Amino acid sequence: MKRDLSIETKSLRRLFKGIPGKGDVVALDQVDLEVYDDEIFGLLGPNGAGKTTLIKILCTLLLPTEGQALIKGLDVVKRASQIRRIINLVSGGETPGYGILSVKENLWFFSQLYGLPRDFAKDRIAKLVDQLELQDYLNTRMSKLSTGYKQRLNLARGFVNDPAILFLDEPTLGLDVLSARHLRTLVKDWIRTGGKTVLLTTHYMAEADQLCDRVGIINRGKILACDTPQRLKTKVTGGATWKIEITPNLSELESVKSIPGVVGLSTTDNIETGVTTLKLVLEEESVMSDLLSKIRENGSKVLNMGKSEPTLEDVYISLVGTGME
Ligand SMILES: Nc1ncnc2c1ncn2[C@@H]1O[C@H](COP(=O)(O)OP(=O)(O)OP(=O)(O)O)[C@@H](O)[C@H]1O
Ligand SMILES: [Mg+2]
Repeated sequence: MKRDLSIETKSLRRLFKGIPGKGDVVALDQVDLEVYDDEIFGLLGPNGAGKTTLIKILCTLLLPTEGQALIKGLDVVKRASQIRRIINLVSGGETPGYGILSVKENLWFFSQLYGLPRDFAKDRIAKLVDQLELQDYLNTRMSKLSTGYKQRLNLARGFVNDPAILFLDEPTLGLDVLSARHLRTLVKDWIRTGGKTVLLTTHYMAEADQLCDRVGIINRGKILACDTPQRLKTKVTGGATWKIEITPNLSELESVKSIPGVVGLSTTDNIETGVTTLKLVLEEESVMSDLLSKIRENGSKVLNMGKSEPTLEDVYISLVGTGME
């Protein structure tokens, strides 16, 4: 079945003028992306990878340097005003409105910016207040809200025009565990209403895994991989990762990372027990013997080791981690 394209970029590039003598920053480098109707698409990547830059271009807040970006077939450069009517953007950690206005006033203000008829706007706001559990704060000034409640107001504002495409840049930043889960449910319910698209960024791998139909992994302005979380896990990690517990920690981590065949490596230290857990993605199982000798050379003892099912974090580490250096 052919699905309708909602977002498309073609060889999209964005440069930022660097400080004199240091050259330009390539924030986006030949990005080709296709996101479809009814899809929740996640962008994952380290700080400075280009995620916010991409979202800003798609939201008509920033111009591309080269290439093209289309929203529902409309060019972001030529058709910005049409696009703005059918999208909305929520950025985590952003001030969601006007500090001196109350929650209710802020939502009303934004509903009127989108030109919603009065009765319609009232109903929509009441529904959003209910969904985001803002009832107790309706008359509270925005500046007095806690971080999490500011973010809830931010999200309510994002849904207020019932956009066809909702961009969420780190939407769960500052939300507690249950509120973050609640938001994910809300986004999933909303996408089920049909004809919608969500493009989000997050640093929480489990969140992306649970929420997104497809994810794109971006590093240094380039999309490294793009697929369903499940297919990425099988494709990128070959279906298995290894977990090794050692003590004490490796003093020469870099020399382990540089063993040929080590595609990804992350370490977690347990300060209380002094045990370090290495998570590894290996090209093939035979690399393990080189690895174990290196650990022994280092003077560390292996306490436990085993294979584990790959997670999206493993995919991320193998693409963005040592493999990229
Ligand atoms: N206005 C700007 N002027 C100059 N450089 C910029 C500007 N905005 C972004 N950059 C640079 O572009 C690159 C991409 O930044 P961007 O904000 O898109 O990253 P990101 O993936 O959203 O990172 P994070 O996870 O930290 O939010 C970085 O090197 C950043 O320093
Ligand atoms: Mg960002």
